Amino acid sequence: MVEIVSAKTDLRRQGVRYTGLCPFHEERTPSFSVHSTDKLYHCFGCGVGGDLFDFVAATENIDFPAAVELLADRYGVEVTREKEDPEAEQRRRARTRLTELLDRAASFYAATYQDSPEAAKARDYLEGRGLDPGALADFGVGYAPGAWDTLIVRGQQAGFSLAELARTGLAQKSQKGAMYDRFRKRITFPIRDPRGRVVGFGARATGSEQKPKYLNSAEGELFHKSEILYGIDRARAPMAKAGRAIVVEGYTDVIALHQVGLTESVGVMGTAITEPQLAMLSATIDTVILALDADAAGRKAMLRAQQVAAGRKLTIRVAAMPAGEDPAEMVVAEGGADRFRELVDGAVELPEFHLELILGEVDTNSPQSRDSGLAQAAPVLAGIAAGATREELTRRVAERLGIDPTVVVARLSQAPEPQPQRSGAPAANEGADAASNTGRSAAPSGSAGGPATSGLLTRRERQERSLLAMCVARPAEGRTYLDRLEARHLSSPLVVRTAEWLRDHLDDPAEGLDPDDRELHGLIAELVVGADPDQVGSGSIRRNFMELELAALEDEIRAAAAADDPAGRAELSRKRSKLVEAVRRAEADAAESGPDQAGHGLGTAGSQTAPPAQ
Ligand code: UTP
Ligand code: MN
Repeated sequence: MVEIVSAKTDLRRQGVRYTGLCPFHEERTPSFSVHSTDKLYHCFGCGVGGDLFDFVAATENIDFPAAVELLADRYGVEVTREKEDPEAEQRRRARTRLTELLDRAASFYAATYQDSPEAAKARDYLEGRGLDPGALADFGVGYAPGAWDTLIVRGQQAGFSLAELARTGLAQKSQKGAMYDRFRKRITFPIRDPRGRVVGFGARATGSEQKPKYLNSAEGELFHKSEILYGIDRARAPMAKAGRAIVVEGYTDVIALHQVGLTESVGVMGTAITEPQLAMLSATIDTVILALDADAAGRKAMLRAQQVAAGRKLTIRVAAMPAGEDPAEMVVAEGGADRFRELVDGAVELPEFHLELILGEVDTNSPQSRDSGLAQAAPVLAGIAAGATREELTRRVAERLGIDPTVVVARLSQAPEPQPQRSGAPAANEGADAASNTGRSAAPSGSAGGPATSGLLTRRERQERSLLAMCVARPAEGRTYLDRLEARHLSSPLVVRTAEWLRDHLDDPAEGLDPDDRELHGLIAELVVGADPDQVGSGSIRRNFMELELAALEDEIRAAAAADDPAGRAELSRKRSKLVEAVRRAEADAAESGPDQAGHGLGTAGSQTAPPAQ
């Protein structure tokens, strides 16, 4: 556990616990904690947590089974699959072989690029464009020799059949029926899935006589260009950390951006961004910055992205590239990386970008052109949620077109309803399906790597968790309080379930958890990691329990009031007064016997008396 986590953040040892800066959010003081023997992690800053598999799934942006496989590979553990049907097993084995073949091909091309005299021109070309040999090697950039059968011969020597060579798309059949290498005399860019497995290649011509400029693997069993993002395997962790993705068009753009440190960059490989691509991104981040070429095709692609993203919780911004310049050229030039960073930081949301495109085409000297500009701008404005942004942009449109703002506003109410933006669940579900169809769906459900939760907890929820953590830290006393804890004390089914689990498993809460119950996993992890016996005095468990009892009483008082039961309410109020008094006394005692030690990051037990409900 410590080894795996240490690869992502520096840890300092404190007994069985290790602490460090959270790899899931930006912070300056460590609030991330790892329990080395229970093998759990939790961040008290952003609320993520879980076990080793959750950690790998979240940092590598893969699902739970993939995390198991990755760890098994790395530590040489054989994963046995229960009840896999023989056909599925057969398919998996066949696929593993194809992946191996593609991996070997990538290594061969890369070695050829590095060493072969035949590739000297290619090396000169790429380096002449300002790409570092190191960055090119990181991406496994290679060279496919000019001969017709290099890979066919080598592949067969390595024990692969012609059929397998064809299935990977590395070899293809001529009209006369002979097999030959698909990629020849080209610079190769291996395209990898999020787990880093090669699924295909993009291959760039090295001479002007070669057409097309880029030849990609044929769509097939493993390669679906529209479902993959170039560089995603290297970008996913930086993306999660930066909270954004930069999307560019080309292979060289991605490599150049990584080279200058913008490692959250991925490429759409020349096509408009697709639904599965956005699904892959929105599983990790909520902001996508498009830095596509400024040509007409690039602009159209950016506008289309708005429709593709409709219904997703995804903000799409556009970094407007200067005409005729692509990110790769820009960032390798003197001062270009800073210029590009400025463009990215100043990226505007899509509607604003769209309006600028429309306004840019208007001839302000021609009333017809201004009218047509208004007609195009109105639906875009109408698509923006009412608020400051819409008002500001409406003003801008009015000003630039020289039309009275009230006329523009009047026009808005007539504009046809545009695509729904960030609407409800149906579209989001579609997205989830699309993501899982690609076989590498979203991060696992539950808390691991997901959105921060602890910052959103109410005071009461924090108290509940705090009490449970104290019970874990001091099982002897904790047991008494767990026995007294009822559903009325707890504000969510998850916490009730957790309390139940702890009642039976207090000695070793992390052991024997249902691996599919990620929610319970996450909370238990948080409790175990946060449970520090040295910081829990027995008084604080009691005070915390009283606070929860108080909260429960207040719920009941409110319920009695709502049910018009004055007698019940009076009785409950009496109980509450007594309890408030008891809490005060306990607090006074604690203050006398030293500083309150309950505040160890999990909650604020007993530090405040809840206001009386009325
Ligand atoms: P570009 O033509 O802009 O290429 O196409 P580029 O990336 O700038 O390449 P260099 O810099 O000239 O070497 C952008 C992307 O579109 C895809 C490729 O993924 C390319 O990186 N593309 C382009 C194709 O798939 N096929 C093509 O024939 C051309
Ligand atoms: Mn380009």
